[in-house]
Amino acid sequence: MEYKYGRNDNYEDFSSGRVLYHVRGMTNFPVRLAQEIYGRCLEYSSKKKDICLYDCCCGGGYLLTVLGFLNQDTIGKIIGSDIDIELLSVAKKNLSLLSEAGINKRIAEIEQMIASFQKQSHIEAKKSAVRLKNLIKTNIQFEVFHADALKEIKLNEKPDIIITDIPYGNLVDWKSDEENVIDKLLDTLYGICSSDTIIGLCMNKKTKIRNKKYIRLERQQIGKRKFEILKKR
Ligand SMILES: C[S@@+](CC[C@H](N)C(=O)[O-])C[C@H]1O[C@@H](n2cnc3c(N)ncnc32)[C@H](O)[C@@H]1O
Repeated sequence: MEYKYGRNDNYEDFSSGRVLYHVRGMTNFPVRLAQEIYGRCLEYSSKKKDICLYDCCCGGGYLLTVLGFLNQDTIGKIIGSDIDIELLSVAKKNLSLLSEAGINKRIAEIEQMIASFQKQSHIEAKKSAVRLKNLIKTNIQFEVFHADALKEIKLNEKPDIIITDIPYGNLVDWKSDEENVIDKLLDTLYGICSSDTIIGLCMNKKTKIRNKKYIRLERQQIGKRKFEILKKR
């Protein structure tokens, strides 16, 4: 796949645990790929500004927070949900970094660590936090809530774009007894999407999507991962 939107930049300011809060056992979603999926979804979206972005398996909110920082011109609101309540508190802390008040609080926290431990890694983290603060141009609203994405999701608004890195592997597997989980997930999402909602699903390359209620707009493979972009039929 040739990248159209994800620039070949150094994204170390976004390293989990540096400024953004880390969740143990959770790997960082590649920032360049996240940006590429968002850019392609936006290309298919009829709406280009004030986007409501939703992740139904948001974990610690890493993916959503990174996209918030990098897409200040187009994202208006971010919504995340997950089955794991503990992760949602990390997601809230991460998404709060998108506001001046939130990032200032984090900078003060890092300054405290510098004062206590005089570690070079904390000094670098402060520089990253200041660079992230400089990316903030707008006040992106956010909301996180608990939901099992395979049962029922109660959303009051129709998201413009849904991007989800669906569970795979041993560390972050589906919490479910359902057999065809991806099709079940798409059935749940069907109820919360409008006919214009664009869905970008990232998954293990072996995962198959068979749900007939959606049209596939694109499918791309990158190493062990693939992503598909879908919309309602
Ligand atoms: C690959 S991780 C997502 C990481 C996230 N994108 C981030 O940036 O931190 C998958 C997530 O799916 C969640 N999950 C597993 N089963 C779920 C379910 N039935 N409904 C909603 N979320 C679920 C896990 O708790 C985990 O946080």
